[in-house]
Amino acid sequence: MKPSTFYVTTPIYYGTAKPHLGSLYSTLLADVAARWNKLKGKEVFFLTGTDEHGQKIAQAAEKAGKEPQVFVDSFIPAYKDAWKAYNIEYDHFIRTTDTHHIKAVQQWLQDLIDKGDIYKDFYKGWYCTPCETFVDTQDDAPPCPSCGRATQLVSEESYFFKLSKYQDRLLTFYEECPEFVIPRERLNEVISFVKGGLKDLSISRTTVKWGIPFPGDPKHVVYVWADALNNYITGVGYGDPSKKAMFEKWWPANLHVMAKDILRFHAVYWPAFLMASNLALPKHMLVHGWITVNKQKMSKSFGNVVDPMELQATYGVDPVRYYLVRQMAVTHDGDFSDTELEQKIETDLANDLGNLLNRTLSLSLRYDLEKVEAPDTWSPEAHELRNHANAMLLAYCEAMDGCLYHQALGHVWKFINQTNAFFHAQEPWKLVKNDKAAFADRIAATCHALKTIGVILLPVMPDKMMVLLDALGYSIIIQPGIDNIEQMAGAWCHVFTLKKIPTLFEKSGIAHGD
Ligand code: ME8
Ligand code: MG
Repeated sequence: MKPSTFYVTTPIYYGTAKPHLGSLYSTLLADVAARWNKLKGKEVFFLTGTDEHGQKIAQAAEKAGKEPQVFVDSFIPAYKDAWKAYNIEYDHFIRTTDTHHIKAVQQWLQDLIDKGDIYKDFYKGWYCTPCETFVDTQDDAPPCPSCGRATQLVSEESYFFKLSKYQDRLLTFYEECPEFVIPRERLNEVISFVKGGLKDLSISRTTVKWGIPFPGDPKHVVYVWADALNNYITGVGYGDPSKKAMFEKWWPANLHVMAKDILRFHAVYWPAFLMASNLALPKHMLVHGWITVNKQKMSKSFGNVVDPMELQATYGVDPVRYYLVRQMAVTHDGDFSDTELEQKIETDLANDLGNLLNRTLSLSLRYDLEKVEAPDTWSPEAHELRNHANAMLLAYCEAMDGCLYHQALGHVWKFINQTNAFFHAQEPWKLVKNDKAAFADRIAATCHALKTIGVILLPVMPDKMMVLLDALGYSIIIQPGIDNIEQMAGAWCHVFTLKKIPTLFEKSGIAHGD
């Protein structure tokens, strides 16, 4: 059977600074989704990149005394290096200044012009440059409702997209696909916005020069969101006749990941653009909260950003990946703190998981139990542990498929603690002296539990879990068509070859008193 496909995207970040922990968070969630689906045997395409046109970029470049392209170019290595450092397995890095993207956007617009969905008029209203958004209000000089900053008056000729025409179709779509937006509550915000009445959308500017020339009228440049959103299709070949098969293979996307600040663009304008061009709509949007610092949004413009590369140098990649996915509830804002990160590393990683592995390996190897096999019949105690594993797997898969990654990890840690409790209660260090068969049974059960944990945590901590699986002598094949999760729910019947490894997770930072 042909493996099914999974196409996931991140927002394309404004090329005005290097990435920070917020940009890493979205990218990481997309990576977890990509790796989870690969683990289940799907063929995956993962797109990320940078948003490089518009007034925000032009102003930032001017302030830096650089040409916009030179300015933006200067940040690209920092993005690519950060994603590489954090093991982000993206397939393509798109830049909106790529020639193919520019041509495809122009062609897309020409198509809408030909269909009669675009007309020329005059725009007068307020504009927020940091958010690149028109602010619809009767008030004079309103602050931006999204970021609270001052807006500027825009008064110029503009092309308009007939957004209002799609109001009813959008509402029908939300009703038919309530799972379009994850979490569902965020869809309600979208629905009430659309019900409030959609105005046609200004999609070109004459007072901005840094952008894609509007087809047939180059004194206009394309409004940056009408340019940027299309990366999701141009990144998989839209508009390139030689990539027709590629586009058909991947579009529509299964998952767009973003934070709540850009939900409206993705859940209102983007589906309307796609409806206008007769393209299928993306299946899901994962809309996460903000990483905050002392409750304020972490942001380039507030200057309170945390550098992912510094965290990596101090704590290592997988601990930071774990902390971000576990501690930041996908559905809520979450405050970042070094202290909490250090605590999570110590308790969850070093104590709960690392020690469990370490104790199992040392005890077995000390008594020359190197080859660990499932017994012909498991003890009732081992059976109980296996039942816990199967219950956890069900809950875990449901949470992972629903993109509630923090909950999924909660289920795994509950199971890790059940395994720890099993190990303590069974006292294998005593059994080894008087009941070798019982000893072998408990160690085999613990190894099976550890293997399950190692496999399902691969999407979150790919390097460390490979080390864990390797210590158990368990090799895994991740390739399209092989569903590693389905296989796991089956019998506990593996043969492990144990080997001693250095400590999996170092406690760091805080004083331990030991
Ligand atoms: O909006 N917490 O780019 P952007 C969590 N170019 N996520 C955060 C975050 C935080 N404090 N700060 C940023 C743009 N993010 C457009 C997108 S897409 C077609 C165009 C993440 O550089 C989060 O995903 O401002 C947020 O939506 C995105 O970065 C905004 O990045
Ligand atoms: Mg932003």
